[in-house]
Amino acid sequence: MVVCPVTTRQNSDPMAANNESPLVDTLGRPIRDLRISVTDRCNFRCEYCMPRSVFDKDYQFLSRAELLSFEELVRVARIFNELGVQKVRITGGEPLLRRNVDKLVGALAKIEGLELTLTSNGVLMTRMAPKLAAAGLHRVTVSLDALDDATFKKIADVDLSVEDVIKGIDAARDAGLAPVKVNMVVKRGVNDDQIVAMAERFRGTGHILRFIEFMDVGSSNGWRMDDVVPSQEVIDRINAKFPLEPVERNYTGEVAERWQYVDGAGEIGVISSVTQAFCRDCSRIRLSTEGKLFTCLFATEGFDLRSPLRAGASDAELIDMIRTLWRKRSDRYSEIRTSNTRPMKRIEMSYIGG
Ligand code: GTP
Ligand code: 5AD
Ligand code: SF4
Ligand code: SF4
Repeated sequence: MVVCPVTTRQNSDPMAANNESPLVDTLGRPIRDLRISVTDRCNFRCEYCMPRSVFDKDYQFLSRAELLSFEELVRVARIFNELGVQKVRITGGEPLLRRNVDKLVGALAKIEGLELTLTSNGVLMTRMAPKLAAAGLHRVTVSLDALDDATFKKIADVDLSVEDVIKGIDAARDAGLAPVKVNMVVKRGVNDDQIVAMAERFRGTGHILRFIEFMDVGSSNGWRMDDVVPSQEVIDRINAKFPLEPVERNYTGEVAERWQYVDGAGEIGVISSVTQAFCRDCSRIRLSTEGKLFTCLFATEGFDLRSPLRAGASDAELIDMIRTLWRKRSDRYSEIRTSNTRPMKRIEMSYIGG
C-alpha cells in the first residue's frame, strides 16, 4: 500500500501555540491544502479545459506584471503553512511553462513540513524532472486521457503523441518524483473506450492511474451530465478484466477513492466529483495566477490578496484576512449542483489551478 508519510502524520494544531482557536470554516473543515496556479497559459488545448475555440480567439491571458512573483508566492505559502496548510500543489495552466519554476520549488521546499507536489501535462517533464527533484519537489501528477494517439490528439488538440507524455511520466519516476499519479478525465463517447487499455498499460508500472469524472468547471467546456461516466462504471469495466478490491483512503479529504488489483499489480483511483461529491472534507484553497484566493473550484469570485500584499500589509494583517475568509466559508458546490450547468460565468480551471 502506498502511504504518504507527510499527509498521514497526525495533524498538530497550528494555532495551539499562540492561543488562537483552530481555523475551521462554517462546516468545521480545516485548511490543509493550498494549490498555487503559476501560469494561466498552457501548451495543450484540452477540450474539457481550454477549448481552442475560446482560448485562441480573444481570450485575455494575464500579463507578466499581473502574476505573483516567486517572492510573493513563497511569502503566501509560508503564511498558509502557519495557518495549517500541509500540502502545496503547483498547478496552472501548465506550470512548467513558468520560467525557472524549479527555483520556486527550491524556495518552497525550505518551508518545513510542507508536502510539495505539481500537476503537469508531462511534455516538458523530460527536461525538468531532474531539476525539480533536486530542488525538493516530492511528487508529480501527469494528465493523460488516452493511449490511442488519435484520441489523445483530438482531446489535447496538440501535435504531439502519447509517447511524448509517457516519456515525461517515466522521467519523473526516474528522477524520484514517485509514485507518479496519472490523471485521466473520462468523457463518454470521447475516450471511455480507453479505460481498460489505460488500466492495462499502467498496471504493474508503479504509477497510480486515476479516472476523473468530467466536471462542469469553468464556462467554456459545454458540460452535460450525459457526458459523465460514473466512477462505478469505470470500476465495473476494469474489474471485469482485472479484478479489483477497495483500499482505505490515505487521509481524510483525499479526493480519490482507491482500488487495488487483486493480483498485486498495483492501485488505481477514481475521482467522483460529480456522482459522489467530496465537499464534506474539502480543505483546499486555491491561489490564482494573479493572487486571488478561491475557496471553491466553482467559485465565481476570488479574494484579492495581491493588493494588500503589494500595499505593504504585514504578515499578521494577511493572516487576519485569510482567517476571516476561511471562517465564513460554506462552499459545497459539487454536493448541491443540479444536473444542468449553472448559467453564470465561472472561473476557468486553467486560471484558478486544478
Ligand atoms: P494527491 O492526493 O496529493 O495526489 O492530490 P489529489 O488527489 O488532490 O490530486 P489532483 O490535484 O491531481 O486532483 C485530481 C483531480 O481531482 C483534479 O484535477 C480535479 O479534477 C479533481 N479535484 C481536485 N480537487 C478538487 C476539488 O476541490 N473539487 C472538485 N470538485 N474536484 C477536485
Ligand atoms: N473535469 C475534470 N477534471 C478537469 N481538469 C481540468 N478540467 C477538468 C474538467 N472539466 C483536471 C484534470 C487535469 C488537471 C490539470 O485538471 O485532472 O489532469
Ligand atoms: Fe493544459 Fe492541463 Fe488544461 Fe489540458 S487540462 S489544457 S494540459 S491545463
Ligand atoms: Fe471543495 Fe468546492 Fe470541490 Fe466541493 S466543489 S470539493 S467545496 S472545491
